Amino acid sequence: MRSTIRHVAGPPSTSWIFGNMLQLILPPQHGDYEYSWLNIYGSVYRFKGCFGNDKLMVADPTALKHILNSPDFVFGPTLDILVQCLFGERSVMAREGTDHQRLRAGLNPGFTAAAVRGYRPIFEKVAQGITEKLEHESESFSTDICAVFNSAAFDAISEVVLGCPTANLDPKFVKTNLEVSHLTLGQSASAILGDALLGILPPCIRHKLILNLPTKNLRLLHAQRALATEAGARAVCEKRDLLAKGGDVTEDVFTLLGETTANTLAFGLFELARDSELQQRLRVEIQDALGTTTNPTSISYANLPLLNAVIKESLRMYPVIPFPERVAATDTIPIRKGQVIMTGIGSFQRIEEIWGRDANKFRPGRWLDGSMCSAEAVGPFANLLSFSGGARTCLGWRFA
Ligand code: HEM
Repeated sequence: MRSTIRHVAGPPSTSWIFGNMLQLILPPQHGDYEYSWLNIYGSVYRFKGCFGNDKLMVADPTALKHILNSPDFVFGPTLDILVQCLFGERSVMAREGTDHQRLRAGLNPGFTAAAVRGYRPIFEKVAQGITEKLEHESESFSTDICAVFNSAAFDAISEVVLGCPTANLDPKFVKTNLEVSHLTLGQSASAILGDALLGILPPCIRHKLILNLPTKNLRLLHAQRALATEAGARAVCEKRDLLAKGGDVTEDVFTLLGETTANTLAFGLFELARDSELQQRLRVEIQDALGTTTNPTSISYANLPLLNAVIKESLRMYPVIPFPERVAATDTIPIRKGQVIMTGIGSFQRIEEIWGRDANKFRPGRWLDGSMCSAEAVGPFANLLSFSGGARTCLGWRFA
């Protein structure tokens, strides 16, 4: 069947094998091609995936809201492969319909505002740990900040989910977790091609292959999942025993990588490193708040406007999942069943009509001076889609 979107305007492609995928996923600088295509072709355009497949990039907020809320759109093949490899078919991300709602309802108590407020002592302990590490390492010439944040995020999640610091976990589990983080960070042309080849196959065959292909990376992912399941099962048993003794298990949440949080933080620090004046203003805001209290842990983050603006601006400019893939599960106007769509979260967050003429600039002030247009309400936080929206809204957004 010919694609119904073949006449939609979009960038030319010079390669049948890769289409525009290398430009989209491996640009020289973050979003180089994606954000210039947004300016040239607008908030909906067609581009080429691998092997001549037409894909649609959608950054229009009304269309995004529809796609993210509609049962007619499910995970596209690349996202399906990632979810199957990382979390497995029984995970909340892999389930659909009522099964998915049931799992979310089970996890929800661990992610409410009150629950996350309760984790604050853990977050503060982890933050203190990073501070000490960085102060110690600042004598050396450079530090890999992503690695520091990655293990800090893993520490926080381990304490909240499994109830113990990573130091008390099986060292093999800690090691494979960090190896998997490196694996998912590293994009390459061969990985893009591998995803495209697997993506052509029907899901049932694809899932079987994922379980059985003897590649080094898949073996690592399977090992990590087995160890995570074991650690999770042990934590559940311990919590169950605690409950039997009349203890409280409302803190229970289940395992997920902290890489998303770590990368958002790293991008925020990157921008602060480029703007020493902003860095100084932020430091003063935090020091002033600390100066007015004898108990630093009593500070309310909501009362730190510049800090909040920096966090929002980091999430706006650098959504760590910039274009989650969906596929039409049925024919739906004006596209056919099987059409792959990128929900262009990153592009949406750079639309000049919404965020201002300087949408491509890191300027936290836009959150404070009222210069933004009031956009369609999307996503759970600050009208951003970095945590997605609809039925699959990130469960951990408050935690992050
Ligand atoms: C800055 C940090 C984070 C960002 C930007 C982020 C972003 C996202 C996005 C975009 C999705 C939806 C993917 C899709 O539907 O295509 C998602 C799903 C999810 N996230 Fe996060 N996430 C972050 C941190 C976390 C943390 C720390 C946790 C848990 C502790 C978490 C738990 C989840 C879960 C459970 C889902 C699946 C929800 C479902 O399928 O119903 N996230 N996240």
